Amino acid sequence: NANTAALSGTVGQPAVPAGDAAPLTILYGSQTGNAKGVANQLKEQAESRGLTVKLISMSDYKTSALKKEKFLVVAVSTYGEGEPPEDAESLYEFIAGKKAPKLDGTQVAVIGLGDSSYEFFCQTAIDFEERLVKLGAEIAYPRADLDVDYEDEAQAWITGALDVFEPQLKAQQSAGANVVSMPFGAPVAAASQYTKQNPFAAELSIVQKITGRDSSKDVRHVEISLEGSDITYTPGDSLGVYFLNDEEQVEAVLAALNITADEQVILGKETLDIRTALIEKLELTQSYPSFVEKYGQAANNAQLLALVEDKAAMREYIEARQVFDIILQNPANITAQALADSCRKLQARLYSIASSQAEVEEEVHLTVGLVEFEAFGEQHFGGCSGYLAQRAEEGVSVKVFSEHNDNFRLPSDDATPVIMVGPGTGIAPFRAFLQERDAREAQGENWLFFGNPNFTQDFLYQVELQGYVKSGLLTHIDLAFSRDQAEKIYVQDRLREKGAAVFAWLEKGAHFYVCGDANRMAKDVHQALVDIVKAHGGKDDEQAELYLKELRSANRYQKDVY
Ligand code: 2AM
Repeated sequence: NANTAALSGTVGQPAVPAGDAAPLTILYGSQTGNAKGVANQLKEQAESRGLTVKLISMSDYKTSALKKEKFLVVAVSTYGEGEPPEDAESLYEFIAGKKAPKLDGTQVAVIGLGDSSYEFFCQTAIDFEERLVKLGAEIAYPRADLDVDYEDEAQAWITGALDVFEPQLKAQQSAGANVVSMPFGAPVAAASQYTKQNPFAAELSIVQKITGRDSSKDVRHVEISLEGSDITYTPGDSLGVYFLNDEEQVEAVLAALNITADEQVILGKETLDIRTALIEKLELTQSYPSFVEKYGQAANNAQLLALVEDKAAMREYIEARQVFDIILQNPANITAQALADSCRKLQARLYSIASSQAEVEEEVHLTVGLVEFEAFGEQHFGGCSGYLAQRAEEGVSVKVFSEHNDNFRLPSDDATPVIMVGPGTGIAPFRAFLQERDAREAQGENWLFFGNPNFTQDFLYQVELQGYVKSGLLTHIDLAFSRDQAEKIYVQDRLREKGAAVFAWLEKGAHFYVCGDANRMAKDVHQALVDIVKAHGGKDDEQAELYLKELRSANRYQKDVY
């Protein structure tokens, strides 16, 4: 059976369909695991309806299998400026290219995950659907573009899509195919009982500023105790952190809307007072278009509603304001319930973990940059970073869960060299990598590129990193302090300076990691890599891109960018 060609060796593999019956193929492309989670949910529910399912990551999918698909679900997230997650990139390009097959006779349903506070919300899902339809596929069930609080809508979509697929799959299966189900027994890391929906109340042990007094930035080293939980993590994973909104802002919102703090509101299955809801459960910082729309409707505010029709103006409006600004600037006579219904559920913020359990055991460390900006004559802070850096006292409890990220992992072979590029808070996962390799006494060489504005103010984890140089764990460290001289120097400049050696490391099998800013840094670092491969590998642009693409397919070029 040609369908099984795609099933080589990944975790969580499908039952194998026999005979000619086409399975329900679920392809996922996932950056942080949400799309993968939805795909898994879909798989379980399809199987409980007795359907044969093939679940596979897009990065493991053989494109030659595509033309044989009859029933296809695509679950894919979008990140950055409308870009596909890394594991979706090659399929995303393949279906737009010359070698893409005709898909007449394929039924497809697409579910997108994204964040509506970004401009290109669910763009990758939109593109997937459009490209598949262009190849001839028929839309079996309408696409859903899900926002950050996607759980309920995802469930509704899964039920709806399966109601459509089930009779068709069963019809062809009973038409003569002999279906066997083979459970796949690959080991999966034991999942914690603590999840996004059921976080662990952990003790916030330490919050320590690690940038200098005169720094342009405020970065905190945070330590959280996982004692009493069954949470484990691997270097490369993230920690989801829930936080409390600023009580002063909540009071200001209540006063502006003439709502009394103890008015009861219903949130999902819960009834609670509006003050608690605003502090603990609803998003008041990160703004997004659907808030403007819902609040505009509740407040009967024509100016806000006009923004709904003008995408560019909406973008500009929400980028300049947090949710509470919009409320305070547009006070109205609305009920507590209408206010609650306008806001989306507060989302945990994900931070790349900065520690290894081999070193810190039942602790987890984070490197948190305080998000701050001035607007309307007042200092504004990010929701979670503002909480951790300013409002939370050491010793309080914070709700956390770990989020696995198989797309950012140390090489399985301890002898493999690694190159790590992590300016600013992008250093976090590399501190975890170094702790892990130190504890394992891994023999592979380690090379770190770090950058920040000033040497004296912003050399995060300076003592530890210099200790690693001394001990030999760090083979090389290259530093780019951008503002210590007249002209800017960035990590990509240091990479170019060391281009010959960087290329030699890649040639001897090194893995290359980038963590930090997605919009500029990661792109500039990628360009530097292209230039290095051209200059030192004797390749043209296209060949250099291909070289890096192959590195990516081999999981030797990994990004954790935001
Ligand atoms: P700057 O703020 O002085 O311009 C961490 O934020 C470091 O990344 C800072 O030193 C910052 O420099 C630098 N940085 C800013 N833009 C960058 C880019 N496009 N590529 C790499 N580093 C960048």
